[in-house]
Amino acid sequence: MSNKFRLGVLGSGKGSNFAAIADAITAGKIPAEVGIVLSDVEGAGILAQARDRKLPAQFIPPGKFRTKLDEEAERAFVAALQTAKVDLIVLAGFMRVLKGDFLRAFEGRIVNVHPSLLPSFPGLEAWKQALDHGVKVAGCTVHFVDAGVDSGAVIGQQAVPVLDNDTAETLHQRIHAAEHDLYPKCVAAIARGGISVQGRRVIWKP
Ligand code: GAR
Repeated sequence: MSNKFRLGVLGSGKGSNFAAIADAITAGKIPAEVGIVLSDVEGAGILAQARDRKLPAQFIPPGKFRTKLDEEAERAFVAALQTAKVDLIVLAGFMRVLKGDFLRAFEGRIVNVHPSLLPSFPGLEAWKQALDHGVKVAGCTVHFVDAGVDSGAVIGQQAVPVLDNDTAETLHQRIHAAEHDLYPKCVAAIARGGISVQGRRVIWKP
């Protein structure tokens, strides 16, 4: 195992944000390596994306709950991430809320991407919430994960316009594209030691 900054990536879906991060690593834009990719969904695209890139990928059954991991699953996720010696947990479309023991194991070392300009529209289908609300500017947020839902300190945000003829799909696509630009930049800054956290404020060092 090298002494590079190591990422543990968790996702439940197709894994396009993971792909953007993996491609940025390959292009030399993020000084890090992927230690492991984990999913709570057996057939998730993110696992295929990892295997295509010859990166370690593992499905871990999430247990009996719908929106969180049960205790056994939580222990298995934590153990896999510790064994892989990861420095940062990168949530890339992981659709379960992380709880106490997981958060304590990686305090201050978990980041997430959310498809809205937080604190507006936390929770599910945020792009749809934005469209239904009628906002003219939407976007995405990369933030540290704390015990709340989409409530941790903001690392970076990118805005996109909401167009009059947008559908949920077209707006989602535009937000997704912004995520693919923003998330690798935020992960790169953390891997370089280029940010500091002062309470809720995340400062990017010059
Ligand atoms: C992304 O749009 C991400 O913001 C969202 O899931 C999608 C995953 O896409 N995450 C959340 O809504 C978490 N609250 P991907 O699998 O193609 O990266």
